[in-house]
Amino acid sequence: MEINPAAIQSRFLRACHRLPVDRTPVWFMRQAGRYLPEYRAVRARYSLLEICAQPELAAEVTLQPLRLLPVDAAIIFADILLPLIPMGVRLDYSAGEGPVIHTPVNSYADAAALKPIEPREALSNVLEAIRLVRHELNGKVPLIGFAGGPFTLACYLIEGGSSRGYLKTKQMMYAEPHAWRLLMGKLTRVVTDYLLAQADSGAQVVQLFDSWVGTLGPQDYREYVLPYSQIIFRALKGAHIPAIHFGTDTSALLPMMREAGGDVIGLDWRVSLDQAWNMLGPDVGVQGNLDPAALFAPKPEIGRRVVSILEQAGGRPGHIFNLGHGVLPDTPIENVLTVIELVHEFSKGARS
Ligand code: CP3
Repeated sequence: MEINPAAIQSRFLRACHRLPVDRTPVWFMRQAGRYLPEYRAVRARYSLLEICAQPELAAEVTLQPLRLLPVDAAIIFADILLPLIPMGVRLDYSAGEGPVIHTPVNSYADAAALKPIEPREALSNVLEAIRLVRHELNGKVPLIGFAGGPFTLACYLIEGGSSRGYLKTKQMMYAEPHAWRLLMGKLTRVVTDYLLAQADSGAQVVQLFDSWVGTLGPQDYREYVLPYSQIIFRALKGAHIPAIHFGTDTSALLPMMREAGGDVIGLDWRVSLDQAWNMLGPDVGVQGNLDPAALFAPKPEIGRRVVSILEQAGGRPGHIFNLGHGVLPDTPIENVLTVIELVHEFSKGARS
């Protein structure tokens, strides 16, 4: 990517470009959400889908964590499943159980029935929320846009919701390759257009959440997922903004995720950051990788874990501090604040 290093001010964007920073940038996946009383107050009046549908509400919820916490980036409030709704999928979010898809995809015919959409129109409310947040942030911190990876979206569509073993998904992959290719091709097209539209609307970085790819062995990842993710990251090069490629349980997949694309690879806590980064090589950034459960530990224990991650990063340009997955619902806010303060304090002036 052609960049002028001096022109990039924010430490989050600098880290995405692997430029030296004054302090390690930190943000949290799911930094807006149920651990914040302000979010719960909005949720008492509106459903998740209602919040996502109204740009003013989505913008407000996006900004809530930024008023309480000195994080280095905002992430637009939306959900990875939103693009499925205009494609004709009926879904809702049941309390405690997560998403429920009422019209699962079980066959070639089901995949064929999914409507192709134009995200610039069908998801214009998310794009409008992005414009509102950029205006309100007024350059304070960068805004991250996001979408689900085609594999992770396919998992929800085929399983009809959350799953442990993804057996139905793998059955379609192995037994109905035409249906799999049709479904993944359609999802790839929508995700690509959606992310490009988010970039045009003001998202300064985008993250692909391929949260559940870790259920696959390396050969299956290469055959059934990598080609599609690669199409998305290649297309994003034309948007000239950095892309983060995230998954969980990916220790055996990291080199292939890197091959698929992304300027920064998201790591969960099941890998050690230094080993993972050494495996990925120096010409890619890494994001992570504190266990979200560590935010329930006593402060000295949180501190040890934060410092350990920063020591593993060793001041190399290109580290973005984050959890290995999203903030859990009952997380104490003061512990989130502790992590941010520790990251900023410990990484100050530690650059080589
Ligand atoms: O602050 C942010 O990070 C932005 C908001 C955001 C949401 N979903 C809002 C949301 C983001 C980035 C997502 C991504 C998302 N959604 C992922 C990828 C990240 C991950 O966790 O792996 C996935 C797999 C989903 C699908 C999804 N949506 C699930 C599994 C659930 C239920 C789990 C839960 O926490 O209840 C949702 C619902 C959802 N999406 C909530 C929020 C804040 C909680 C619902 C509520 O407020 O009642």
